Amino acid sequence: MGTLKQTSSPVSLTTNKHLLKWVEKTADMTKPAAIHWVDGSQEEYDWLCSQMVESGTLVKLNQKLWPGCYYARSHANDVARVEDRTFICSLAKDNAGPTNNWENPFVMRKKLRALFDGSMRGRTMYVLPFCMGPLDSPVAQIGVQLTDSPYVVANMRIMARIGLPVFREIDKDEKRVVACLHSVGAPLEPGQQDVPWPCNPEKYIVHFPETREIWSYGSGYGGNALLGKKCLGLRIASNIAHDEGWMAEHMTIVGVEDPKGEKTYVAAAFPSSCGKTNFAMMIPPKGFEGWKIWTVGDDIAWIRPDEHGHLRAINPETGFFGVAPGTSVKTNPNAMAALSKNTIFTNVALTPEGGVWWEGMTDAPPDECLDWQGKRWTPQIAKETGAKAAHPNARFTAPAAQCPTIDAAWQDPEGVPISAIIFGGRRAATIPLIYQAFNWSAGVYMGATMASETTAAATGQLNKVRRDPMAMLPFCGYHMGDYFRHWIKMQRSLTATPRIFHVNWFRRDAEGKFLWPGYGENLRVLKWIVDRVRGRALGQETRIGWTPHYKDIEWKGLGFPEEKFKELQAVDKAAWRAEVMAHEELFIELHSHLPPEMIYERELLICRL
Ligand code: OXD
Ligand code: MN
Repeated sequence: MGTLKQTSSPVSLTTNKHLLKWVEKTADMTKPAAIHWVDGSQEEYDWLCSQMVESGTLVKLNQKLWPGCYYARSHANDVARVEDRTFICSLAKDNAGPTNNWENPFVMRKKLRALFDGSMRGRTMYVLPFCMGPLDSPVAQIGVQLTDSPYVVANMRIMARIGLPVFREIDKDEKRVVACLHSVGAPLEPGQQDVPWPCNPEKYIVHFPETREIWSYGSGYGGNALLGKKCLGLRIASNIAHDEGWMAEHMTIVGVEDPKGEKTYVAAAFPSSCGKTNFAMMIPPKGFEGWKIWTVGDDIAWIRPDEHGHLRAINPETGFFGVAPGTSVKTNPNAMAALSKNTIFTNVALTPEGGVWWEGMTDAPPDECLDWQGKRWTPQIAKETGAKAAHPNARFTAPAAQCPTIDAAWQDPEGVPISAIIFGGRRAATIPLIYQAFNWSAGVYMGATMASETTAAATGQLNKVRRDPMAMLPFCGYHMGDYFRHWIKMQRSLTATPRIFHVNWFRRDAEGKFLWPGYGENLRVLKWIVDRVRGRALGQETRIGWTPHYKDIEWKGLGFPEEKFKELQAVDKAAWRAEVMAHEELFIELHSHLPPEMIYERELLICRL
């Protein structure tokens, strides 16, 4: 070990009886060699990282180029969320619904207990308290993750509020916490040499919604292992939100400020790897001098009506777990600034000078590097074999506070007011660049029926159009039909209803080329959204909703022909017919829980088409 000493003692940092008992019971089951109570300090983080450098899990990057940064390579089959191994084990199968994997909770518990029996042998079990949302926020949720992965502890320190202040909160009034148990499932026998990325080919990501528990086994990868994020932040939180009358959504939260200083916040739901992070940190394009985009969050929004009946949103996270490939100073300079220091990189490439690289980071690739599996990679090898230097789902874990566009109110315990909700998917055809729902119920239908081409964020087939309602298909912790009903019902608690829009930055022409430049140019669309919300823009009524006229979009700084805009906005009758049939396929699956509003909206759409 280096010169750094362990700063936290193995003595418990809480007086909460339930927590102490649970830690003791879990240690009896998992049989770790040691227990470490996480205090969340910088010293502890440095010590953990130095230990991981020694064990080969982390590489310390060139500190002149990448101060405070580390690099990890995962096992080749632990690179993404595993949706087919993710379970919602509600008491009744019907409550999980057909879009989730379900197993009888008693059967699943038995299975898990067998897997966790001795699973931490030879390792340290970390007791990691974390808070999703500012500690003083009425919307915040506390969890405690017991994990045998120091990589998880280090990443969670960037992604959430952790350590002593959270223990203090837990002790205050014996608060209920979400119990999160995690093991990489790779016990060490005495004398056995560890591997850089321990994991198990058998993986289980399991949620017990009634008892608000999470059990994750076999994976060390982000979405499967950082349990505050997808597991608590979305799957368990969606259950809590359903019961308590608020919303836990897979959304970015953005403030749009015009040159007069008027700020409008919007929340946007796009599926994984569809540009939420870029959208959250957009650079205004030419012609939009004086405009500013402010970042509140890039992945999760917890949204609640305030006492005036207005929706307010918080970002429960404190970091960005972003997709590295494609991120550059051209596409997202703010993300590049955020990840320039104190960041953990996973599955990108390592350059000879101790830096990182990924496809799309620079125009010219490095002459050579080590790829995400540690093999030598050169542009020539890539040409011959198609090998990627970085895995397509390579990630950076970067502190949100380092983002130059972070919003002044990003940690406001009450959240920011939401004026518009935007849905969007990755669709090569059929779906226009922008349209607005006629009203809330039509907007819920719009979100419920959205679809997107699959990406590398989850294991499975790529580029296949699948229905991904509200971008929540992998993350809704209960029956999707009940989730739609919850959305419909939310409007009743509101005095001002956010307007709902649908965007598609990814439409292609007959040659397969993108029709829309995207990135900063998306602000042109966002301006129209803000104008609509503020009652400043007329739209035209079309079959599928309100759309802008060509003249309603600010084109200054971008020569964009009217003809091309028409192609982007085209609503093809035959294609929409097929689209509605695809809506129906989802609805048939959900029919026993589908709110009647979805049927009416479908009928109205068919009539208009
Ligand atoms: C993510 C995801 O990591 O959606 O945010 O997969
Ligand atoms: Mn996500």
